Amino acid sequence: MTTTAEIHDSIRAVQWQGDHLRLLDQRLLPGEERWIDCRDAAQVTQAIRDLAVRGAPAIGIAAAWGVAMAAQQGAALEPVLAMLRAARPTAVNLMWALDRMKQRIASGTDALLREAQAIQDEDLAANRHMGELGASLIAPGSGVLTHCNTGSLATAGYGTALGVIRAGVAAGRIARVYAGETRPWQQGARLTMWELVRDGIPAQLIADSAAAHLMKSGAVQWVIVGADRIAANGDTANKIGTYQLAIAAKYHGVKFMVVAPSSTVDMATGSGEEIEIELRDPAELLGTNGCRTVVEGAQAWNPVFDVAPAELIDALVTERGVIERPNGMAMQAMFGR
Ligand code: MRU
Repeated sequence: MTTTAEIHDSIRAVQWQGDHLRLLDQRLLPGEERWIDCRDAAQVTQAIRDLAVRGAPAIGIAAAWGVAMAAQQGAALEPVLAMLRAARPTAVNLMWALDRMKQRIASGTDALLREAQAIQDEDLAANRHMGELGASLIAPGSGVLTHCNTGSLATAGYGTALGVIRAGVAAGRIARVYAGETRPWQQGARLTMWELVRDGIPAQLIADSAAAHLMKSGAVQWVIVGADRIAANGDTANKIGTYQLAIAAKYHGVKFMVVAPSSTVDMATGSGEEIEIELRDPAELLGTNGCRTVVEGAQAWNPVFDVAPAELIDALVTERGVIERPNGMAMQAMFGR
């Protein structure tokens, strides 16, 4: 039986083809739906680094397939693991997936292929479960604001924060959806709006700088975001701009929800202070679509993640359950080893 939530979920951007990995090139959306075929682990690494595939769970899944493909090709796997691990620093799902693959190396190629498939399948199942858990926190008729892209494109499918929005819309709990454009790379404008339009979910794009004004208007009751790494005290690294949304939400009495699979939780990192924040090429900020928009000679600082402190988070939703107002003790109880 097809559920209402599944009707709003048609996109699969990471597809294993038996001997290579097919990725929907997220750099070109929404203008062009072009697929790229990665035929070795170096091409997968490049795709992760260049954001052809992006989003914390999706880069972990792509990396896992990169390792499985290298095993099929008889490559030495330790250098492949090191190469993939260095592709991007902040999203811990990448390291988590590679650690899982590493543990299977001794069992052979078939075991590695099964592990990559399991990582992908478990992510989709986690997203569906988190969708239900997160949506149940939202009062019927609410408005929500999301940031970046946390949907099918960023995961095995369905999405994390966008999964909650899919489930909340399907259940009639969410009446209004707003998406921030997410400068400079425009994941919200280019990717989230593409997913929402394609899956028939009405939404309005806002400039990132309109968020506090939107909250003041009373149109949104929840900000719902994903995560790239959640520290042991609940501090959460996510796309740049998340921190200021959390501050503005607290000021306006808007609730703040983080939605992420347990593969995003890093209990070995004590607090957000210890999370490496990726700095990307200033050119991403100095132009759009490769076209320079800022005067030649100007410089830019381009951190692409920030950290929302745990004290600003009302609900942390993972597939293991919901933690309200996360702190070290609650995190240890749910994720401690
Ligand atoms: O730089 P990106 O596009 O990979 O950053 C993505 C995000 O920050 C997402 O919010 C996060 O990975 C969660 S995706 C389910």
